[in-house]
Amino acid sequence: MTIQWFPGHMTRARRQIEAKLKLIDVTIELLDARIPMSSRNPMVDDILKGKPRLVLLNKADLADPAITAEWVKFFTDRGLKTLAIDANTGTGVKEILPKCKELMSAKIETQIRKGINPRAIRGLIVGIPNVGKSTLINQLAGRKIANTGDKPGVTKGQQWIKFGTDMDLLDTPGILWPKFDDQNVGMKLAATGAIKEEILHLDDIAFHTIRYMSEYYGERLKERYGIEELPEDSENPNEVIEVMEAIGRKRGAIISGGRVDLEKTSLLFLRELRSGKLGRVSLEVPEEYL
Ligand code: G4P
Repeated sequence: MTIQWFPGHMTRARRQIEAKLKLIDVTIELLDARIPMSSRNPMVDDILKGKPRLVLLNKADLADPAITAEWVKFFTDRGLKTLAIDANTGTGVKEILPKCKELMSAKIETQIRKGINPRAIRGLIVGIPNVGKSTLINQLAGRKIANTGDKPGVTKGQQWIKFGTDMDLLDTPGILWPKFDDQNVGMKLAATGAIKEEILHLDDIAFHTIRYMSEYYGERLKERYGIEELPEDSENPNEVIEVMEAIGRKRGAIISGGRVDLEKTSLLFLRELRSGKLGRVSLEVPEEYL
């Protein structure tokens, strides 16, 4: 599902989250481990209004583990408790409850001191579309609960999902919008499948991704597509197009006259990337954001 994020949608999505915030103790911000900053809503600090927050780097199974470890440190250094998880299989998910308890420990201790029996921690999952919110809710609930088609602007009754005896989660996640005004961010969102590729040109998305991979994952490209020469200067578009053409030839994406079909090459390449056939790849590193 693609949501066209017009200002009206953003305002409505924000209001919906604000209404949910009144009910909860802890927010769980879901990011894509391959592109944590590009999959982050730029106004998230403002929107979540200082509620205790756990950051989850989801789809860590698809991301470069060494880079994910750097990202965990990056967010932790900024005072945010952070975990890398895979909501599909549940890897890392067991750590969520203890981290939420840590976030609430001061409040829980005060309640105990006052003789109040602490109630279950109430949590809300937030994130941009496709980051895995519904998958995580289903994983935590141990059954299919969340409707992956949740749309901003559509309200329905709130229900709590019991997550053990110590935590309740709202069954509908808070939907944030991505920062798609920056072209580079848009390319990364499209490359990972967070936004539909029709919004941008397929060959632009593949071009940007191949340029990045030539620099950071050159050996993978060489190995998979039998490429001999990687671009000496990845800022030179012609050199990147030569790599795209080599990929196209390897995959038989040829049109009349023996020319490489760049559109088809792009589609095939992006499919292989997203399905993990190029290995675990991250498309941004913390150094870019220091
Ligand atoms: P949302 O509620 O935030 O919109 O996301 P949702 O859970 O629907 O997940 C979007 C896609 O991401 C789903 O794939 C889901 O299986 C996949 N996904 C979620 N978490 C993980 C994870 O940790 N690892 C991997 N590898 N995939 C994950 P889908 O149904 O096939 O949708 P699509 O890929 O066709 O968009």
